[in-house]
Amino acid sequence: MSTAISPTAYNYKVVRQFAIMTVVWGILGMGLGVFIASQLVWPELNFGLPWTSFGRLRPLHTNLVIFAFGGCALFATSYYVVQRTCQTRLISDSLAAFHFWGWQAVIVGAGITLPLGYTTTKEYAELEWPLAILLAIVWIVYALVFFGTIVKRKTKHIYVGNWFYGAFIVVTAMLHIVNHMSLPVSLFKSYSAYSGATDAMIQWWYGHNAVGFFLTTGFLGMMYYFVPKQAERPIYSYRLSIVHFWALITLYIWAGPHHLHYTALPDWAQSLGMAMSIILLAPSWGGMINGMMTLSGAWHKLRTDPILRFLVVSLAFYGMSTFEGPMMAIKTVNSLSHYTDWTIGHVHAGALGWVAMISIGAVYHMIPKLFGRAQMHSTGLINTHFWLATIGTVLYIASMWVNGITQGLMWRAINDDGTLTYSFVEALQASHPGYIVRALGGAFFATGMLFMAYNVLRTVRASDPAEAEAAAQIAVVGAH
Ligand code: HEM
Ligand code: HEM
Repeated sequence: MSTAISPTAYNYKVVRQFAIMTVVWGILGMGLGVFIASQLVWPELNFGLPWTSFGRLRPLHTNLVIFAFGGCALFATSYYVVQRTCQTRLISDSLAAFHFWGWQAVIVGAGITLPLGYTTTKEYAELEWPLAILLAIVWIVYALVFFGTIVKRKTKHIYVGNWFYGAFIVVTAMLHIVNHMSLPVSLFKSYSAYSGATDAMIQWWYGHNAVGFFLTTGFLGMMYYFVPKQAERPIYSYRLSIVHFWALITLYIWAGPHHLHYTALPDWAQSLGMAMSIILLAPSWGGMINGMMTLSGAWHKLRTDPILRFLVVSLAFYGMSTFEGPMMAIKTVNSLSHYTDWTIGHVHAGALGWVAMISIGAVYHMIPKLFGRAQMHSTGLINTHFWLATIGTVLYIASMWVNGITQGLMWRAINDDGTLTYSFVEALQASHPGYIVRALGGAFFATGMLFMAYNVLRTVRASDPAEAEAAAQIAVVGAH
């Protein structure tokens, strides 16, 4: 804890910009999610046009929710956390501004090129080379601002949340650059530098660690700051957080082959991926327990604080999806789950339950502080949002479990003479009710985001710029 008043306030401008864009991209990305979920119920919604077809809008959904919504949440919180825990302003306002505008440009580029059908075809790495290069430059600028701020910190030690953000920044840069190595043949077409099974392995080394470092490690950085802050309790075990950090980052990087079970990938690599995925359960749960136990003595706050509820329930979903993931990595289980909606359910248990819920909690925590208000405009609306998000997530994942297991069992059922018991279309028909429930669950979740937007708007409107600047000044005084 420091009591010195810094002459310059924190740079809250870039934090505010990224926080607001988290809500905006969240609505657009999830709204698109509801739309493509509806296309799977009513195929007429493809409208017979190439750029509105499911195949083109699906990668736009994943790019918007992961990189636009998730990315902006990670940038807003990491800039907020690094300044407050290092008791210093970001090293450069102009580089931070370049990061903000550069990132928005990449996303707008995705919004134009993906519906037009320009894609590398690599999942989560679809952006063609000009956008991929812009993304790499923006990312390096982000790394400079983040690590530069850590270097000029006024505190002695580096708070653990920053370790997680730091690992997320370094590893994402490495994954993006290695997986995107390609040979451009025109402005919008390139061919991967790798081929065959090597290409597949590099892609899923990237894909899995995008989950591990983008969708997990960065959000754990968020968890280590916002859960103790909102609960007003110190983190349960600082020692466990250090063990958690090193165990997580050393293990995650090996698990990629579980995406390539029963493929041309050498069998030993598949088994290694499976074994490392099972071991991954331990650090994942270590982190979850560390977050949960931080509430010791503060559980009663859950009754009155819906922001804390968002944060705690996100940890519960994190625990659930990191239990489910290792199970699905077991080859025999994967032979049933792969290609089915079970995977989609697992993805959204992590994406909605963990990633989106913790981001929403963190944004609700930050907004009043960023805009110089005591609290959000309406706690009741946060509570409504919380229930819409929780019920929406449960509807989504439960329907996908039912669909996934039904599909897996129907596809593998054979008659005594060796012929298939069910045709593909019969399995599709059996999935139809599940698709309706999923679209409904998604609509619940997305509606919650609209409540959030209204609440944020009212809070922002009630603040005046002078008060907001004063908040950044005052924040420099005292503890992180
Ligand atoms: C309202 C909320 C959402 C709805 C309705 C929704 C809906 C969908 C649908 C229909 C698909 C395609 C499934 C298929 O191909 O069968 C999908 C895929 C995906 N979504 Fe969402 N989504 C939502 C939110 C999110 C969020 C917040 C994230 C991430 C933070 C996310 C990440 C993904 C990913 C990674 C995939 C690809 C999964 C895979 O290839 O296995 N979604 N989503
Ligand atoms: C210990 C942790 C985890 C393990 C071992 C794990 C394991 C798995 C496995 C085995 C699959 C299915 C692969 C396939 O059959 O193709 C999968 C898919 C996926 N998981 Fe996880 N998972 C974990 C945690 C998470 C979390 C927390 C998230 C999200 C925040 C997540 C997001 C995804 C995504 C997006 C996919 C779909 C990839 C694709 O095919 O497009 N996972 N995971």
